[in-house]
Amino acid sequence: MEFIAKSGSPQKQRTGCIVAGVFDSRKLSVRARQIDQATEGMISSLLRRGDMEGKLGQTLLLHHLPNLPSERVLLIGCGKEREFAEAQYCDVNVKAAKLLNETGATEMTTYLTELEVKGRNIAWKVRQSVTTIEDVIYRFDRLKSKSVSPRRPLRKVVLAVPKRSDISAGEQAIKEGKAISNGVAMTKDLGNLPGNICTPTYLAEQGTEFGREYSVATSVLEATDMEELGMGSLLSVSRGSRQPPKLIVLEYKGGHEGDAPIALVGKGITFDSGGISIKPAGQMDEMKYDMCGAASVLGTLRATAELQLPLNVVGVIAAAENMPGGNANKPGDVVTSMSGQTVEVLNTDAEGRLVLCDALTYVERFKPTSVIDIATLTGACVIALGSHASGLLGNSEPLARELLTAGKESYDRAWQLPLWSEYQKQLDTNFADMANIGGREAGTITAACFLSRFARKFKWTHLDIAGTAWKGGKAKGATGRPVPLLTQFLINRCRNK
Ligand code: BES
Ligand code: MN
Ligand code: ZN
Repeated sequence: MEFIAKSGSPQKQRTGCIVAGVFDSRKLSVRARQIDQATEGMISSLLRRGDMEGKLGQTLLLHHLPNLPSERVLLIGCGKEREFAEAQYCDVNVKAAKLLNETGATEMTTYLTELEVKGRNIAWKVRQSVTTIEDVIYRFDRLKSKSVSPRRPLRKVVLAVPKRSDISAGEQAIKEGKAISNGVAMTKDLGNLPGNICTPTYLAEQGTEFGREYSVATSVLEATDMEELGMGSLLSVSRGSRQPPKLIVLEYKGGHEGDAPIALVGKGITFDSGGISIKPAGQMDEMKYDMCGAASVLGTLRATAELQLPLNVVGVIAAAENMPGGNANKPGDVVTSMSGQTVEVLNTDAEGRLVLCDALTYVERFKPTSVIDIATLTGACVIALGSHASGLLGNSEPLARELLTAGKESYDRAWQLPLWSEYQKQLDTNFADMANIGGREAGTITAACFLSRFARKFKWTHLDIAGTAWKGGKAKGATGRPVPLLTQFLINRCRNK
């Protein structure tokens, strides 16, 4: 998709479709009013006749209005003006993009970017429009025998900015928006691929190929390497599977040599059957998404490389498949992690923490300034926060705050849960240093407690993306979250350097 930032009034645009907002009830936005004036009151008379109230998400597509060089005008209902905020802004962008992608118009000029969103500037609105439109346009049809793409898809979007002097901010916003969207699309693609294609080996190949294309140094540790390092916990997870595990290491070097990197650690369980503690059959297919943390590490590195951010970032992906088998982990087994700490595997379905703990110990060698792990770790997080916020826990308040802020800015939000020492007791066991589960209560927190024991040597934050990484139901698919949050965090780190 081509995006352009431009200033100018709708009467002068020659394009496939002009998009403008109408508030409830029948209150024209500034640009809709200009269209109304140019067309001698066509819009207001249509509204008077009851064709549109302006309720959020309503649409009215008009063709060949008099005195307008554009073929179409799309009016979008924006709801009550004083309730118009970020969520509504995203909604109207989704509406416009969905509708126009399925009409004959291949280009649009949108004035939605000029609507007032409290606390948000033009750069934010432009960037959010870019990522929202790309999100709507995204298709995953490579496994269908015939493509299901629309016949005349949207190809070009002009994003209106109020003044000429806003154009350069608009262009920078487009650049960031496109980089984020490319990272999101890469993450979605990997997430949507099924477990029989997207194996740990496939992830390693994709990581290596990405590294070659973007000059990111890549290496892959094999099971034998992991044995030498003593990664008994990670290895125990893959033992039930025919698929060999991989530890994928990517080093993006945009900063000065020797500058301490930021480390991103991703859970890459390419299929989570639960293992011997096997999951129920319903929706088990969704456990192909259990590598979305890993995919978001790749997606974020892709956005980072595209933006050529001036910092060093290390990505580490712990990839394995969790299956039952003659050699699989059994409840009660005790394994020794790379850190030397022993773990009693009381439930083989709590495998994410078992692979992540060794990956966390592994990143110590990079002496990172901050470590962020990203994982579809607990069903409890879906219950606690639903699909709107990722769970966030960690051992450094300033780092947590940085990430929460980046989430708000990118509108890919996270919500912090406490990591108080009282919860640690739930991991006590008579037979090892810790158990891998902490009982029914506070499942997201006890999972993070487990990880915290492997993150003592650095500032660390854990993002539980079990509820945010994919959508179920009819629109089933990976979301690409939290690539926007992570990329924003890295962009902010560059600004504050
Ligand atoms: N991958 C799952 C977490 C998950 C479950 C994500 C449902 C999204 C939707 C993870 O490996 C898991 O199975 N966690 C268990 C932990 C439990 C055994 C302590 C869970 O959440 O039930
Ligand atoms: Mn599991
Ligand atoms: Zn899992």
